[in-house]
Amino acid sequence: MKLAEFDVWARAGLESVEAALQAWVPADAPAGLGLAMRYGVLDGGKRLRPLLVLAASQAVHGLPEAALRAACAVELIHAYSLVHDDMPCMDNDVLRRGKPTVHVQFGEAQAMLAGDAMQALAFEVLTPVDSAQGGVPPSLQARLCSLLARSAGHAGMAGGQAIDLASIGKPLGEHALRDMHHRKTGALLQASVLMGAACGEVGAAQWAALSDYGDALGLAFQVVDDILDVTQASATLGKTAGKDLDNNKPTYVTVLGLDAARRHAIELRDKAQAALARSGLQEAAWLGLLADKVVERDS
Ligand code: IPE
Ligand code: IPE
Ligand code: MG
Ligand code: MG
Ligand code: MG
Repeated sequence: MKLAEFDVWARAGLESVEAALQAWVPADAPAGLGLAMRYGVLDGGKRLRPLLVLAASQAVHGLPEAALRAACAVELIHAYSLVHDDMPCMDNDVLRRGKPTVHVQFGEAQAMLAGDAMQALAFEVLTPVDSAQGGVPPSLQARLCSLLARSAGHAGMAGGQAIDLASIGKPLGEHALRDMHHRKTGALLQASVLMGAACGEVGAAQWAALSDYGDALGLAFQVVDDILDVTQASATLGKTAGKDLDNNKPTYVTVLGLDAARRHAIELRDKAQAALARSGLQEAAWLGLLADKVVERDS
């Protein structure tokens, strides 16, 4: 019953995210840049980050207009990170979301620029210039920008990606691996939860509990990504399987082994669920289900 309700809720939420992204990612950016941006953002991906924003916002009775903008902004940052992650100077991948990667389709320079422009667009979406300000008070706009920038930048995703590339062929210890995963993937997932929470009223204890939930879920997500890289086929993943081994990357599978990595993902899910329970939020069922899905997914 709950699962069927969740599916109805998620479908409706993602339809509004999809429609907003369709409207906001410009087809008419100069010299074909818009086509590359739209190719990288639209019609693909699990859209987990937008769902986390919407679920967290709903749990705190957040402002729907703000949550929709936050959901799109975080997906834009994520999609940009994928475009750059796939480029030859990084993971050198040719398949993403079941399609040729952006640089394969449009060339490297255009892929780099599409990523740059998607990153900027995320902050444009959070700071609408029309007089009604998209229904989002300026103080909330600033808060959302701050959360997103800090998770995407040097201390978060970009910093984690730098560690990832510097770690090729190196036997990382578990502590260093956890730090890398927290930054490159966890930070943006945690920010998704906190941006949703910022759309409503939350006390300090609830904020801390949601932060812990996002932290554990974010790490679990990348542990499972490492597992799926060795256990699933490219057709299921929509991206090239076995890429971590090919690229000689240290992962949770190489450091802990497959069985221990699986156990760790479950421990992290339980940690996320415990933090959610600690939040005392009454309407957090969708956040709970999303934590389960992060660990149970097969793509
Ligand atoms: C893949 O993220 C990259 C990581 C951060 C591990 P997702 O698995 O969420 O990719 P999409 O959005 O569904 O394509
Ligand atoms: C990517 O990690 C994290 C990002 C910031 C994009 P991966 O390199 O493992 O992601 P996939 O497996 O290519 O999606
Ligand atoms: Mg990578
Ligand atoms: Mg990659
Ligand atoms: Mg991966």
